[in-house]
Amino acid sequence: MAAPAEEGPPRCPATRGERYISVPSTDLRLTRMAVSLYERLSERARTVPPSGIRRFFEIAATMENVISLGIGEPDFVTPRPIIDAGIRSLEEGRTGYTSNAGIRELRDAISAEIRSRYGVGYDAGSEILVTVGVSEALQLAMLALLDPGDEILIPEPCFVSYGPAAVFAGGNVVYVPARVENDFQVTAADIESRITERTKVLFLSYPSNPTGAVLRRETLEEIAELVVRHDLLVLSDEIYDRLVYGDAHRAGHTCLPSIPALRDRTVLLGGFSKSFAMTGWRIGYACAPRPIYDAMYKAHQYIVMSAPTMAQWGALEGLASCQEDVERMRLDYDARRRVIVDGFRAAGLPTFEPEGAFYCFPDIRSTGLDSETFAQRLLHEEHVAVVPGDAFGPSGAGYVRCSYATSMEKIEEAIRRVARFAERCRAETLAVG
Ligand SMILES: Cc1ncc(COP(=O)(O)O)c(C=O)c1O
Repeated sequence: MAAPAEEGPPRCPATRGERYISVPSTDLRLTRMAVSLYERLSERARTVPPSGIRRFFEIAATMENVISLGIGEPDFVTPRPIIDAGIRSLEEGRTGYTSNAGIRELRDAISAEIRSRYGVGYDAGSEILVTVGVSEALQLAMLALLDPGDEILIPEPCFVSYGPAAVFAGGNVVYVPARVENDFQVTAADIESRITERTKVLFLSYPSNPTGAVLRRETLEEIAELVVRHDLLVLSDEIYDRLVYGDAHRAGHTCLPSIPALRDRTVLLGGFSKSFAMTGWRIGYACAPRPIYDAMYKAHQYIVMSAPTMAQWGALEGLASCQEDVERMRLDYDARRRVIVDGFRAAGLPTFEPEGAFYCFPDIRSTGLDSETFAQRLLHEEHVAVVPGDAFGPSGAGYVRCSYATSMEKIEEAIRRVARFAERCRAETLAVG
């Protein structure tokens, strides 16, 4: 274990020992007691870095007139029928636990939704688990599948929770770069070159947070072939399945288990937070073949017992009567997406065209700054919060993540500020050069 630093918080190796990160501490002067407590933390707790997303959000919260493109959360309020259904469930006295797996009505509705949308059948009684957001579902899946030493392949840049969830479950994370040259899709060749005899699981997450990339059907079929050949299991986080745009929308989202060879080796993770604007309700689900379902069910039973009751009734109402709201929000995100991508490109920041989720990922290298400095200076000098791209993995270096789940007026003002800032940075670089 790394010795604690003399000054400042103790430092410990990040997931793969490639760099060191600091353990969050409000007390910069470590007392003997704190050192001793730190040394008694589990290796897992010490290894996992704090989230790079919240840090900027917290600094931004202390400043005035900040436009936040930092947080991955819809700016819409949950559709009214969902709110009413949640309130009704409380008023009717449904204030206790539900069945561990979730209310049967919701599991039936999820099963019907996945069947009608993607043609994949899951038995509501033995293959669908309602969870506390996708966050819980992904942790359960890792607990169900990973033993110490098992390797899980995770394409990066990726959502910040994946690596830590695998580490908390005892797995070894092997990141696979997804490059802009390949539209931020991971390739079968890059996956295959990292497979060892310990590789057990491949994690996929498209549409992607942070890049907005989607996985084309041809790429997916190549990946499916190697998954079968190497007998891997797959975790697929499809929380943004309903938020796709342009060609990806015309082609339609490909749900991984709809590829027949993947159905019985995949855990599908889905949720309501993003497409139904329900982040605070904490409701998601996992669909898995029976043996994996059973293992996840056990972990869920002991850890949380059941997802929030009123949120389950709300989600049920969402599936029943709010599909048009989802589409209305999608169209709004699409309009904002086009404005922000054009705006950043016009400001001289090459920006990959995102086709899903609600993020864009501009390349900021022309400013001469690294991602962290760019984000820090942009926040302090222009009051715009973005997240450094390398918070999502090393391939995010040189980029920043900007969420466009905010109003058009704020997006337009943010573009003006970013353009002014980028111009200033380039002028400084020229002056120095
Ligand atoms: C890709 C991805 N998966 C999962 C989550 C967590 O979602 P939930 O609110 O359902 O826990 C997020 C939230 O930002 C996300 O971006």
